[in-house]
Order: sequence, then structure tokens, then C-alpha cells
Amino acid sequence: MRHFITTKDFSKSEIIKLFEEAKDFLDEKPRTFLEGKSITTIFFENSTRTLSSFESATRRLGARVLRLDVSRSSSSKGETLYDTVANLDAMSPNAIIIRHAHSGVPLILAKHTHCPIINAGDGKHSHPTQALLDLFTIYNHFNGKVEGKKICIVGDIKNSRVAASNIELLTRFNLDIVLVAPPHFMPHTSLKKFYQFNKNIIENSDIIMSLRTQTERHNKTVYASLQDYANDFCIQKNLIENKKLILLHPGPVNRNIDISDEIMKDERTLVLKQVKNGIAIRMAVLKKLILENKG
Ligand code: NCD
Repeated sequence: MRHFITTKDFSKSEIIKLFEEAKDFLDEKPRTFLEGKSITTIFFENSTRTLSSFESATRRLGARVLRLDVSRSSSSKGETLYDTVANLDAMSPNAIIIRHAHSGVPLILAKHTHCPIINAGDGKHSHPTQALLDLFTIYNHFNGKVEGKKICIVGDIKNSRVAASNIELLTRFNLDIVLVAPPHFMPHTSLKKFYQFNKNIIENSDIIMSLRTQTERHNKTVYASLQDYANDFCIQKNLIENKKLILLHPGPVNRNIDISDEIMKDERTLVLKQVKNGIAIRMAVLKKLILENKG
């Protein structure tokens, strides 16, 4: 049985097929592909976009959603995660979508369930559907010609599962990646790295991907203040001026820290388009995993 734990779980040609299917789903019309199916969502970390996106995708495909409310579940009575998921699995859902603060949880659980597990974000490790929707947004914008496009990823890259998944996926699709972050947010990597912005980086970028500072994953505060960070790394008008590029952010955006109010309104900023695209991509992923699953 196939699960979706990291972007590596799908080949390049499978991803292009998912994009073709997702393009059809952008019409936002209801479908019946998953009629009679049931999907369980279990989120141990907060979420606005990802949870509602998966649940909208499920409903648009004609399936039902069973959402486990973690704060009211028996996990708070000392039940192990394994037992919680084994019990949910015994109710025979057609897929379980899980988010957890610890890296590796979805992979471990996938070994004990009878249905596909979809990782909706695990710690700093991976957020595969977010990377797919980001690439889908880039792919649509550039009419499929993404090879060689220059992307600048900026922010708390080291602690971001969105960055980790995008770096794997965008490298595979031959985008040219540059990382911009202060030293404490920079991962160990052989990619091109800059510790501050310069005009050249912007001049050479087709895409900027801004990321939120993952304060919930910091054991200790390694920077003076978010305002200091913003002075150097916030995407604002005097930085990008009128350069032709697109700006992505997975949300939640910390306004005037990650992106200025002015640039949030700019037509180059595709944050809400990413949200729309996210539902279509998740529909394509759910359809593929569930209909291909022969048990
Ligand atoms: C991201 C996440 O949860 O990893 N958000 C999302 O899923 N859209 C990014 C973040 O929280 O900064």
C-alpha cells in the first residue's frame, strides 16, 4: 500500500499527472470519485489552512470526513499514539491524514495501518502536500516551464518542514535554489547560501518563497527580536521594487515580519492562489492514493 510521507514517495511523472488532474479540479465543482469513502483527519498541531484544505478536498470528492478532536481524545488520558491510531484504523477509514510535532510519526504509524497515511506535516521533517501545491503554483504560473527557474527561499529554513520538502522537490524539477537567512536559520547544505539580501539576489530571482519563523520549534531564542529579523529579511517594496517575480508563502504570514502589508496586496504575491491550488492538489493526491489502494 502506498502512503504519502515525503515528496520522494511520488516520481516526477506521477507528480506531473497529479498536476494535470489538479488543473481540472480548479473549477471547484463537486466530484463523485470517492463517494461512499471516509477519511479521518487527526491533527496534533495547530492548523488553519492544511486541515480545512484536506477536509474541503475530501468533501469535493464526495467522501465523508471524520475529524478526531485531539484535545478531547483519549491521547489526553494517557493513551499512546499507536493505540489511538490503531483504534481509528479499526474503524476502517480509506485514508488517515495526520499532523504531528515530532518528525517521523506518520512513517511509524504507516507501518501499523490498513489504509494510506498522508503526512500533513511532521516536525521539521516534511510537509509533502505543501511542497506539491507550491510547485503546482509555480508550474501553472510559468506554463509548465519550471526548469532553470531561480527561486530564493528566505526565512527560518533550518526549522521549516515546508523548506525541507520544497528543497527535495524543486531540486528534482531542476529549479535553481538560493537560500537567504541569518546564520541561526540556515541549514547545513551544499545549496547556494546568503546571510543577507543584496540587489543581485533579487535581480536573479523568478520566485521568492518567504517562510515564517518557527518560534514553536526553537528550544532557545537565538535572535534578538523578530523586528531585528524583519529589518533584514521582510519582503518589502524597497527590497523587490518593481522586479518581475512571484512571491509565495505557505501561511500563516507574520505581517511586516515575513512580508509587508503593502506587498501582501501586491499582484505578485500569490499566497491566496496557493490556498486555492492546495485544495485541487490534495483532491488529486487523495483520489490517487485511495483509488489505487487495493488493500
Ligand atoms: C506551514 C506548516 O504548518 O508547516 N503552514 C502550512 O501548513 N500552511 C508553515 C508554517 O507553519 O509556518
